[in-house]
Amino acid sequence: MALEGKNIMVTGAAGMLASDLVPRLQAAGARLQLFDLGEAEIGGSAVARLDITDFKAVKHAVGDVQPDWLVNCAAFTAVDAAESEEQAAFSVNGAGPGNLARALSETGGMMLHVSTDYVFGGADGRDSRRTPYSPDDTPSPCGVYGKSKHLGEVEVAQALPENYLIVRTSWLHGAAGHNFVNTMLKLAKEHTELSIVDDQVGSPTWSGWLSDVIVKLIELEAQGIYHATSRGGISWLEFAKEIFQQAGAEVELKGQTTEDLGRDAPRPRYSMLDVSKLEDLLGEPCLSWQEGVTRHLEALKA
Ligand SMILES: NC(=O)c1ccc[n+]([C@@H]2O[C@H](COP(=O)([O-])OP(=O)(O)OC[C@H]3O[C@@H](n4cnc5c(N)ncnc54)[C@H](OP(=O)(O)O)[C@@H]3O)[C@@H](O)[C@H]2O)c1
Repeated sequence: MALEGKNIMVTGAAGMLASDLVPRLQAAGARLQLFDLGEAEIGGSAVARLDITDFKAVKHAVGDVQPDWLVNCAAFTAVDAAESEEQAAFSVNGAGPGNLARALSETGGMMLHVSTDYVFGGADGRDSRRTPYSPDDTPSPCGVYGKSKHLGEVEVAQALPENYLIVRTSWLHGAAGHNFVNTMLKLAKEHTELSIVDDQVGSPTWSGWLSDVIVKLIELEAQGIYHATSRGGISWLEFAKEIFQQAGAEVELKGQTTEDLGRDAPRPRYSMLDVSKLEDLLGEPCLSWQEGVTRHLEALKA
């Protein structure tokens, strides 16, 4: 098995991405130690309590586990709430990953930190860029969430200059969690007509595929920054059309602007990530976003 004997610590283990990642790490033979804000159980394994903003607790846990890899999926992911809860967002997304990285720098081991397309797009989401952002591009974070996630990246890279792997992804959707696909399926039961934003372009990414990629990146001991999203860039409106078509739901769709929706946080109008570095490393293309929808729907049925 690819990760046989590897001691892997996962933080944010009760979240959406981790719920797909943990079983895959288990299947690859890793010995797992799981942590989240509250105690839980994932795939038959216990999740212990660890607040990544508490450096003393983090140092104690990392010292105990002595992981070969620490995978940080913990985050403050409520993009709109981050605007009014700036301190909490920076604490979890900025200081938290820094705490994990500093603790790990004392024990040795690699850190895989999950980040986001929101490190691009500009403060108000209106950057004029319309070609995919590469891992080497200088970040231009969008909103408080993007800025806090960017701080996390900087903290991790500073504390572990030789031992970090940052994986940026976007528009994540998985069977277990709050996300666009699950929301659309719920809305289709309640509405015959919906208005969906059509002026933001990005790449939906199925968390099962991303989890497979994370397992491979650990196996390959990759370092630095990688972009890992599905292939193709679309609007939320096009995404909704595909979801309803594949799910066999009949909903009339209309476009609306980001302004019409009137959310608290800015959104990148364009946040496609260039995945060619990942495709070169893995020797295969990233999943298409349409296939990601298919796999998500299959996972829900299973
Ligand atoms: N979702 C997306 O569309 C998306 C897109 C691009 C990148 N990402 C990134 O992908 C990663 C995984 O996202 P996700 O959607 O799986 O997130 P998620 O479902 O919100 O999971 C995050 C987990 O972290 C926990 N957490 C929050 N604060 C914590 C703290 N102080 N200490 C320890 N754990 C804490 C959360 O607990 P509570 O639920 O109790 O708060 C939750 O279980 C994140 O880094 C996110 O920024 C997500």
